Amino acid sequence: MNNQATKLKELMQEQSPLSAKKTRFVAITSGKGGVGKSTISANIAHMLSKRGFKVGLFDADLGLANLDIILGVSAPKNILHVVKGEATLDEVVLQIAPNFYLIPGDSGEEILRYSDENFFRSVLSKPSMLDAMDVMIIDTGAGIGEHTQLFLKAADDVIVVAIPDPAAITDAYAMIKVNSTYKSEVGLLLNQVKTEKEAQMVYEKIVKVASKNISTPFKINYMGHMRSDEIVSRSIKSRSLFTKDAPTSAPSKAIGEIVQKIALKLERNVLVGAKESGLNGLFKRLFEQF
Ligand SMILES: Nc1ncnc2c1ncn2[C@@H]1O[C@H](COP(=O)(O)OP(=O)(O)OP(=O)(O)O)[C@@H](O)[C@H]1O
Ligand SMILES: [Mg+2]
Repeated sequence: MNNQATKLKELMQEQSPLSAKKTRFVAITSGKGGVGKSTISANIAHMLSKRGFKVGLFDADLGLANLDIILGVSAPKNILHVVKGEATLDEVVLQIAPNFYLIPGDSGEEILRYSDENFFRSVLSKPSMLDAMDVMIIDTGAGIGEHTQLFLKAADDVIVVAIPDPAAITDAYAMIKVNSTYKSEVGLLLNQVKTEKEAQMVYEKIVKVASKNISTPFKINYMGHMRSDEIVSRSIKSRSLFTKDAPTSAPSKAIGEIVQKIALKLERNVLVGAKESGLNGLFKRLFEQF
């Protein structure tokens, strides 16, 4: 281990060994861009918080962050200020609703320069309110970029979002294949489908290709589907959440089914040391990959 890495490890060991909840990290990703990851992440986070979980939503689409816009809030400071030492993590976190917190990302190139040791060091340096989160939804960038892969590797669960166009299906499969090198399963969520049957067909197609080409034991779990719906596009335009404004609509029911699957896993979570909780836990895992 090099000198910097040793220092980082020491920094993590300085954290108090208080008992804390283990935060479950759920990364939402996709092969192709524009398939609905951010919309889905925000609505999943909102619905989980309504069910009583403490939820963090982390905008990890480094350089292309937009969850503040989707949620209709303004973020005076974001993760870039944290990595530059201009703010603490708790100073940039925005409370969206009871139990629902946003860690705003940055939409500029500068953040990409900090995605190394400094990034982790600044986030690790102080205990944070985020240490108390039950679950952290991580909205990643599209594609198999280096930064996205770090988040995917560190996450407990990966959900790949795909839409039923041929290019998006190919890209979703490529993303799943990459995940199979470090995960034993991923969830697949089909968005912007016309019917449930169409979603099932795409799912089966991807499973078939995967079973031929992925040699390690690997499972693709069907997480659900969402139809193209004006309620969704309207909510984005009005910078609001359909799970809030139209809780009984079909898209909200679709999110509800996905949330139910995530909630089942959360209920099995155990108490762990503070080092495993919150963002601290996530960055510790990221760090372990160096
Ligand atoms: N089920 C749906 N019905 C109608 N419109 C949808 C649906 N899902 C997503 N959209 C629309 O698709 C657009 C892209 O969504 P979103 O920004 O969530 O995608 P993304 O995968 O996060 O994109 P990026 O890769 O750029 O981060 C939005 O305008 C959104 O309103
Ligand atoms: Mg997005």
